Amino acid sequence: MRVSGAKNAVLPLMAASLLADAPVEIVGAPRLRDIATFGKLLSLMGASVERIDAGEDGREAVRIDPREIRKAEAPYDLVKTMRASVLVLGPLVARYGRARISLPGGCAIGARPIDQHLKGLELLGAKTTLSEGYVGVEAARLSGATVYFDMKTVTGTENLMMAATLAKGTTVLKNAAQEPEVCCLAQALRAMGADIEGDGTDEIVVRGVASLRGGRHDVIADRIEASTLLLAGAITGGDVTAEGADPSAMDAVLQKLSESGAEIAASPGLVRVRREGRVRSVNVETSPYPGFPTDVQAQFMAYMCLGDGFSIVRETIFENRFMHAAELRRMGAKIDISGNTAAVKGVPFLSGAPLMATDLRASASLVLAGLAAKGTTEVLRIYHLDRGYEELESKLSSLGAEIARVKE
Ligand code: EPU
Repeated sequence: MRVSGAKNAVLPLMAASLLADAPVEIVGAPRLRDIATFGKLLSLMGASVERIDAGEDGREAVRIDPREIRKAEAPYDLVKTMRASVLVLGPLVARYGRARISLPGGCAIGARPIDQHLKGLELLGAKTTLSEGYVGVEAARLSGATVYFDMKTVTGTENLMMAATLAKGTTVLKNAAQEPEVCCLAQALRAMGADIEGDGTDEIVVRGVASLRGGRHDVIADRIEASTLLLAGAITGGDVTAEGADPSAMDAVLQKLSESGAEIAASPGLVRVRREGRVRSVNVETSPYPGFPTDVQAQFMAYMCLGDGFSIVRETIFENRFMHAAELRRMGAKIDISGNTAAVKGVPFLSGAPLMATDLRASASLVLAGLAAKGTTEVLRIYHLDRGYEELESKLSSLGAEIARVKE
């Protein structure tokens, strides 16, 4: 199965287009609801956003022309449906001197404050205010500074890295997030003329430049989608190859799959996972990259429900990311939750049931459980899935799954 472009790499690249003084094309951007929503946000600001044929084996690109931006604002209506809207903050302040965005509230997986984004922008000299649920950020021109993040934050690192590209002087981001999506953004910014070093490590140095040009950027493969498809194979005792996947970005997941008894074959751009017999129960603990991704925790928990013993699944990134457990229990899974720890006692089989999706990755976990379960599973509220998986049902059907989209 061919893996799509990474949602969490495309969204920051779309935000980065606000920094440019010419159009930006993002090649390999999948057709996802979050990407459409981000496009709508940029259009509301005055950018022109369109999907174009990228001219390479039928690949598509999103083309953003930022030259008519007139409104540096992200309204509540959009931010409440997509928290990643916060990514416009850094670029808008850096390029236009001001931004006003609706402060995102909590979501299904946790409180998710943006204090680190705001602290960082303040350290770069911006003034922040809060009124009527909106954060206002202003700065005539940002100045380079050292920003130490209290915790690893992916979009926080991306926001500050983008803001710093046009600041006066040098910015050092310490305890920076090291995710491949951060590196993809840094690479695109460099191609636009930014001076950035250290991405992929926990210290990123950005020397400010006067302006950034447009350009065309390839997006990296979605390691979370790839992991989900490979787990679909593993949970059903199948044999799935993810084409285009970068195995070096998936070490933690592949190692856990291997410990669970799956056979892994990986080469650049290709990962194959095969499994037969009973699943071996293994423990997982989420942590920032290169640790086990929180975005694969729900899918892995579904897999562990069929393990041959006990599995401890610990979630250290988000405080409420076990919503899928209650739904999995309705299929016969044995899961005890205590704080951030789930004890999963493997059962020989799961039984199909009607289930409710609560967020993007929880939905994927329920689909995986449904593929392996005896009988029919119905997953409701699948709009969550469309936010981050491109044509999941047709990809799974072509791997042999019996899955169809029906009207709710
Ligand atoms: N945090 C703070 N203050 C901040 C920022 C973060 O307390 O100012 C906390 C969060 O509440 C959380 C932790 O720090 O407990 C890490 O959050 P992070 O900021 O890294 O998350 P994010 O940037 O909002 C991105 C992805 C998420 C993914 C997380 C963790 C994008 C657009 N989103 O979110 O993706 O789960 O990193 O890897 O990149 C998904 O795709 O399903 C998804 C939720």
